[in-house]
Amino acid sequence: MTTQFIGKQDFTVSSQTVSESCPSNIALIKYWGKYADQMPANPSISFTLNHCKTNTAMEFVAGEPFSVKTFLVGNEEAKFAEKIEKYFKNIEQYLPWILKGKYIIRTENTFPHSSGIASSASGFGAIAKCLMKLDNTFTGKINEDESLKKASFLARLGSGSACRSLYNGLIVWGETDEVEGSSDLFAVSYPDTEIHEVFKNFNDWVLLIHEGQKSVSSTVGHGLMKTNPYAERRFQEARENFVPMKEILKTGDMDRFIKLVEHEALTLHAMMMMSDPAFILMKTGTLEVINKIWDFRRETHLPLFFTLDAGANVHLLFPNDGSEEEIKTFINAELLQHTQKNGVVKDVMRF
Ligand code: DP6
Repeated sequence: MTTQFIGKQDFTVSSQTVSESCPSNIALIKYWGKYADQMPANPSISFTLNHCKTNTAMEFVAGEPFSVKTFLVGNEEAKFAEKIEKYFKNIEQYLPWILKGKYIIRTENTFPHSSGIASSASGFGAIAKCLMKLDNTFTGKINEDESLKKASFLARLGSGSACRSLYNGLIVWGETDEVEGSSDLFAVSYPDTEIHEVFKNFNDWVLLIHEGQKSVSSTVGHGLMKTNPYAERRFQEARENFVPMKEILKTGDMDRFIKLVEHEALTLHAMMMMSDPAFILMKTGTLEVINKIWDFRRETHLPLFFTLDAGANVHLLFPNDGSEEEIKTFINAELLQHTQKNGVVKDVMRF
């Protein structure tokens, strides 16, 4: 199944430094639950962000014993290095030269580390892009589309949601009959001609309700789905949700979009509340913001809505359709007060 990505045995390594940048992404239909080898339990779809990025410089010193050192904004991060070492060993069959030298990886995020914005997605996306740059140098260039597809495949093996960060726009990971060419192994772009204009110019403002360590890591969270009695129903629902999502994206039906996206976010949190052990990842501020958004929508009928990752922060989603100024005024006046230190990361979707 993965033979198409097996690396060429014929390579010549040399010392190189490569740099790449990769954005984060925010899921609309969520990936939560996986099987061995990073296979997703259900398909997911996300918006790729524009400003929230990881910039990575990878120095490869050929001929040295294999080792990895990582630095986050100049500070050595031994734990991250351990993770990367394990990851590189794990992907050797796809990049047979990968253990033939040592690595110094310098990385920085354009968003606050503690914000809960998926730095594993942008981080592994950037690393996979660096690796493909080296691969092209050491084994001979392959075509750009193939290279990007393999980068998405490799990024997935680092962090599932990272495979969606390699492309701009609306991105699907996980096989579904609703999206041609979709795969569990790598992400694909949702076809541009099937997307209504209103979904091509979207804001994502992340309210930093609670900065600091998340109380459940993604790895633990995905693991909890293995014993959750509602897991199978949830995976089925995510698959089913691609049917209305497809219609909504085509027709631009904002009301149905809002309902579906908020339902997905709340389901993800409900799954964690029903896990053993249970986790409640929302904070008081999360609930206050959600209730204020619902009141605002009831009163104004303006398209401000939310999604959540596995944490307390709220991603505020709203289109640039003429209503955005009124929405921004509301956010500043009513929602910012629920953040820690007025923390908000303002991003837009990258198309
Ligand atoms: C809630 O991709 O971080 O953001 O594959 O274990 O690295 P690993 O998990 P990760 O999970 C992200 C889960 C999510 C939903 C999503 O992005 O689809």
